[in-house]
Amino acid sequence: MSTDNRPDWVAPEDLPAHVSIIMDGNGRWAKARGLERTEGHRAGTETVRTIVREARALGIRHLTLYTFSSENWARPKHEVGFLFELLVSFLKRELPELMEQNIRLQILGELKDLPLPARTALQHAIKKTAANTAMTLNLALNYSGRGEIVRAVKAIVAKGISPDEIDEATISDHLYSAGQPDPDLMIRTSGEERLSNFLLYQHAYSEFHFTTTYWPDFSVEEFRSALCAYANRERRFGKTGDQIKA
Ligand code: IPE
Ligand code: IPE
Ligand code: MG
Repeated sequence: MSTDNRPDWVAPEDLPAHVSIIMDGNGRWAKARGLERTEGHRAGTETVRTIVREARALGIRHLTLYTFSSENWARPKHEVGFLFELLVSFLKRELPELMEQNIRLQILGELKDLPLPARTALQHAIKKTAANTAMTLNLALNYSGRGEIVRAVKAIVAKGISPDEIDEATISDHLYSAGQPDPDLMIRTSGEERLSNFLLYQHAYSEFHFTTTYWPDFSVEEFRSALCAYANRERRFGKTGDQIKA
């Protein structure tokens, strides 16, 4: 792993192919400013814009953003409603940029249970960006890691695949993320240090980076410094340190 003497520079070959982010802390960001939680979500979408742009500029091939968990339905109705309205206006505003930047949009999660305007806007954006090749932006929406595994098992059983034929790849191929590499680096903002049911199968060997920064304050500089820290980690995948160096 090599970084030169610029503190925020990572050699392209040391960049993660796939970064996943738990964008947390919007509510606390707003509360600290005496604002409604919804204002935190609004500010958070500006960070999404900035980080997507930066990831694309750096050459990261897959970026997955935890946008709405299946558990988030338990939040107050007006907050949930606001989040989906925000999503619709975000898609409308960002679609031209996604096209210009050659970014493909994908959803990880159960689309069919989303409010109709959100579903329509998502389907439109997914279709429109389907042939884009520079980066895949996955939004984990109405997503549950355990639910995703249950869904995969059901699909495998429904196809009549026999137990002897099932291996780890069979499971991966039936997840929402089928065909994409596992995240190399998982970032969570806001100081919480847990997975919250996010990509349980895919994060088996990911490196984790936790920061106390609330998502609306997460900057390009901090993103780069997380990538730098990642580039200097030693991933062992069960081997000894000496084996990795050899
Ligand atoms: C993350 O911020 C955004 C979503 C879960 C949609 P939160 O809304 O969880 O913010 P905190 O954790 O309450 O500060
Ligand atoms: C995880 O954040 C979900 C998203 C960021 C969309 P939460 O704020 O919902 O997670 P918990 O409840 O603190 O674990
Ligand atoms: Mg939270």
